[in-house]
Amino acid sequence: MSLPHPAFVQHAKLIDWVAQIAALTQADAVHWVDGSEAENEALLAQMVAAGTLTKLNPAKRPNSYAAFSDPSDVARVEDRTFVCSQDKADAGPNNNWMDPAEMRGTLRGLFEGCMRGRTMYVIPFSMGPLGSPIAHIGIEITDSPYVVASMRIMTRMGKQVYDVLGTDGEFVPCVHTVGAPLAAGQADVPWPCNKDTKYIVHFPETREIWSYGSGYGGNALLGKKCFALRIASTMGRDQGWLAEHMLILGVESPQGEKRYVAAAFPSACGKTNFAMLIPPKAYAGWKITTVGDDIAWIKPGSDGRLYAINPENGYFGVAPGTSVKSNPNAMAMLGENVIFTNVALTEDGDVWWEGMSKEVPAALTDWQGKLWTPASGTKAAHPNARFTVSASQCPSLDAAWDDPAGVPISAFIFGGRRSSTVPLVCEARSWEDGVYMAATMGSETTAAAMGAQGQTRRDPFAMLPFCGYHMGDYFQHWLSMGEKLAQPPAIFCVNWFRVDENGKFIWPGFGDNMRVLEWMVGRLNGTASARDTLLGWAPDYTDINWTDLADMSPALFDKLMSLDADAWRRELLSHDEWLAKLADRLPPAIEAKRKRLGEALAV
Ligand code: GTP
Ligand code: SPV
Ligand code: MN
Repeated sequence: MSLPHPAFVQHAKLIDWVAQIAALTQADAVHWVDGSEAENEALLAQMVAAGTLTKLNPAKRPNSYAAFSDPSDVARVEDRTFVCSQDKADAGPNNNWMDPAEMRGTLRGLFEGCMRGRTMYVIPFSMGPLGSPIAHIGIEITDSPYVVASMRIMTRMGKQVYDVLGTDGEFVPCVHTVGAPLAAGQADVPWPCNKDTKYIVHFPETREIWSYGSGYGGNALLGKKCFALRIASTMGRDQGWLAEHMLILGVESPQGEKRYVAAAFPSACGKTNFAMLIPPKAYAGWKITTVGDDIAWIKPGSDGRLYAINPENGYFGVAPGTSVKSNPNAMAMLGENVIFTNVALTEDGDVWWEGMSKEVPAALTDWQGKLWTPASGTKAAHPNARFTVSASQCPSLDAAWDDPAGVPISAFIFGGRRSSTVPLVCEARSWEDGVYMAATMGSETTAAAMGAQGQTRRDPFAMLPFCGYHMGDYFQHWLSMGEKLAQPPAIFCVNWFRVDENGKFIWPGFGDNMRVLEWMVGRLNGTASARDTLLGWAPDYTDINWTDLADMSPALFDKLMSLDADAWRRELLSHDEWLAKLADRLPPAIEAKRKRLGEALAV
């Protein structure tokens, strides 16, 4: 079947694939997205008319919109996410697996006629600077105009991608549907999705993505977790690079010495905040700049160092908790041209969320479109409410953020949300030790990460939901990468979330994380001292700059840093439980490190 297509598309295989998907999904129309301003305006107007978007008050928030999702479609669905490798063992216990042939049958049934009554959009996008040797191209087919508008912000999207793709370039095919076909004459709903059936499917060998039933975030913006992490991590394993759930930031001293670090924290654990950190007053002359807030693609350079790019073009950030106090840069970048999803609306047509201001508005429209007052006893914004905004609006954007060559990485930082046990900061003695710490890192579940509140779930490298293959093989890949590097980055672990007897965070966090970062930079430069501990090198009280932070007494700092032997014996047993799940592919170096820790603690 031949399909009408615009002159800017000259890729025969792509045109053929689009025709196949159009026939399968029985979409009413095919729209080849060009990424133009006019196209975007038309889509936004169409979504306002359909009730999908509310235009915010232009005097308060120019050119910005809010969407309320269906209450059943508010976050990634990990239990509906599949990695369908040929061999089940390759997907590992960290992924849901189904036989690829069986899954293809299931998908065929689901996708047949799934776009009836809807327009099918063909979105060309580049993850990474267009044409960069580190970048890769994807084509997402979707029946959601909300996805088109979001992908325009989150990726380098538009017809210029076809210039790079040419007539036979490689692309990752991504097919997405909300899974809600419309019968003739049937009225649409503001947020179409399939309440009962969701599938987020990856075929790592053929590098394909199929997503059914959800219109939200990582389920639907397929360049993000599906491509840039799950598919890219398998590409990285095969090709010798890393695709990581990491922010990238630059830290520059008053003397003009600049370092880049990449940090992996689990979802909703502070990547965006850390990436845009504004140093406290005591740090006059220090500058933090942002390369990325969620994903890093990292490749070895010919000089034996690692170079990282942010494959994304924008931020899909957690709104609740974002305030002028916690993240002034984020608040500044949200002034205009933003799509908000599941935040609350004020009476004067602006947005609000929990933690945005001390004063709580007297009346709001909550994220489900209902009248809300402080007496409602519910959250006005969904805990996973998000903003979608272009990186170009970030006041702290790094000058090299768009550099096709990437930025050199001096250190990796790993951190989960732990109310006890794990100290504020320590530095691994070696690459291997660092890999062990990252492999066993844990995080206590929150509203955004599913599971009972307060349970520790192992989230190695903050990649548990995002590694497209067996976690044991992934640990080995990290070990092998380190062996090949002439100058491997240092590895640090942090925990901003330790609490006192009253459940209050001991560490002030946010801007004050600069104090920890300064110590790390000092370690890289060989100027900061540290003492040897069970977990690695750790700062003494006097190794950290406490100017303007009188509340942090040496006793309180000890509490933040303490390594309780009993707690660590229990912690190691919990590592054992986790590592046992990966036993079939666990690298010997990980087992050896566990043994050494056990000997030190007699467990
Ligand atoms: P994803 O986009 O889901 O991958 O997450 P993220 O890591 O970018 O999450 P984000 O930065 O939006 O984290 C938001 C949560 O982390 C909020 O609950 C913040 O209050 C909390 N948070 C961020 N930084 C700190 C910190 O330094 N200390 C404390 N205590 N909380 C923090
Ligand atoms: C995360 O959950 O880690 C996110 C949001 O960054 S989503 O893109 O929905 O996965
Ligand atoms: Mn994330």
